[in-house]
Amino acid sequence: MNLFLDTANIEEIKKVKDLGLLDGITTNPSIISKAGRKFTEVIKEIAALVDGPVSAEVISSNYDGMIKEGVELSQIAENVVVKVPLTMEGLKAVNEFTNRGISTNVTLCFSANQALLAAKAGASFISPFLGRLDDIGHDGLELISEIRAMYDNYGYETQILAASIRHPIHFKEVALRGADCSTLPYSVFAQLFQHPLTDIGLQKFIEDSKSINW
Ligand code: E4P
Repeated sequence: MNLFLDTANIEEIKKVKDLGLLDGITTNPSIISKAGRKFTEVIKEIAALVDGPVSAEVISSNYDGMIKEGVELSQIAENVVVKVPLTMEGLKAVNEFTNRGISTNVTLCFSANQALLAAKAGASFISPFLGRLDDIGHDGLELISEIRAMYDNYGYETQILAASIRHPIHFKEVALRGADCSTLPYSVFAQLFQHPLTDIGLQKFIEDSKSINW
């Protein structure tokens, strides 16, 4: 499963890249506004830093605006993926981007039917938001299984990019259910390394290694 970071924070991106574990980046308008920098500049910097796909979301919600912004974003760098909301206008834009050879990530997906429509429109990625479904008492993880089954039934190549990941169990479960990628806040990424038995075991090895003659 490909591991993406859900951030526009350059330091976080560098840390994960240096570990050799970074496959891509996702952003959204909330993340970009938190970065407090010019949108196109921050995307340009991230795209130059990261080898994999970098999702940058359009701000317009009408077709013409999305096409204009998406074309501009796609011209920033080859690895920029245009992120589009899952609406009628959005999927119409995805169709056009697909015709023009521009990669897309369809965002704000909360149902398997929506995911099927996005695949039919030619989306490169679909982003089901697990955590936000859990927040309203639905089963976010079940959505991943449903989309996997639907896409496999018909051979759709749209990649399932599990989003709105809130904790390590989400990460493990989406991997078990066949998501192609998972996008994590840095805090959740850091949690993936943690296990108390690793800490206890390492402490013991460090103690015992003091009597080793190298
Ligand atoms: C993914 O593309 C989204 O940016 C993100 O995962 C949303 O997560 P949130 O629900 O924690 O804001």
